[in-house]
Amino acid sequence: MKGIVLSGGSGTRLYPMTRAANKQLLPVYNKPMVYYPLSTLMLAGCREILLVVNPQDEASYRRLFGDGRQWGLAIDYAVQPTPGGIAEVFLVGRRFIGGDRVGLILGDNMFYGDALPAMAERGMRGQGAVIYAYWVSDPRAYGVVEFDAGGRPVGIVEKPEAPRSNWAVTGLYFYDADVCDIAAGLPRSGRGELEITDVNARYLKEGRLSVEKMGRGYAWLDTGTPSSLLRAAQFVETVEDRQGLQIGCPEEVAWRKGYIDDSGLAELIEPIRDSEYGKYLQRLLARG
Ligand code: G1P
Repeated sequence: MKGIVLSGGSGTRLYPMTRAANKQLLPVYNKPMVYYPLSTLMLAGCREILLVVNPQDEASYRRLFGDGRQWGLAIDYAVQPTPGGIAEVFLVGRRFIGGDRVGLILGDNMFYGDALPAMAERGMRGQGAVIYAYWVSDPRAYGVVEFDAGGRPVGIVEKPEAPRSNWAVTGLYFYDADVCDIAAGLPRSGRGELEITDVNARYLKEGRLSVEKMGRGYAWLDTGTPSSLLRAAQFVETVEDRQGLQIGCPEEVAWRKGYIDDSGLAELIEPIRDSEYGKYLQRLLARG
């Protein structure tokens, strides 16, 4: 199963942190930000992953992930020459997608919740487009979905000034292979981008959009500003410290899902034995 992580963008709101480093490589507490969304796609069952990156960052991402084999994945890279919108991934990723269903996650989106794996699997196995909506206090910075009295989506608008609901569209999406043609036929928006909201609006018009509400038992965290980035880090630290279990650890997901076995995990631990991260993985091996 195939998934795309969009890890491009210019990260201007986090300047100067993003002057030399790509936003999604910045740490969220104890790991690079992109580890969290990558783990989410793995939990959905994706093992063929395309990372869409800026030209100047490709080498860093290759250093971070290689070809993914160490985690039982096949990771490939595609370059987005300029930040031209989320839906552009379906142009640069067209060959990767082929005729298959595909998951897409934004490299700065962090999800947490007990039922996350099942929720993401439903998206992967679903029909047409499956997206997720999360109740936020101020949805104006997001795509916003409007539902009718029966809970069916009836409208979706990008960054509305007067939102018709508090349901923000999260950065996790699943589509059938038609998404490539749909994206290719879109006009550029006012900000010069191919908007993911236009893709979703098209599926909605065709009656092929499912919007699953992510309930109160989930956390969907923002990392777009210095303070939201700090709050996300504090959230991870709080939960990890309390439980002694890590959030967004691809090695652990790979091992629990059987993509790698004990000896595969032991090999990954060897060079990082002395780090906290390496010690966590050792505890997993010892105790399961
Ligand atoms: C993008 C999408 C928006 C979505 C958000 C989720 O916004 O355009 O619909 O709600 O991601 O993170 P952007 O990050 O481009 O402002």
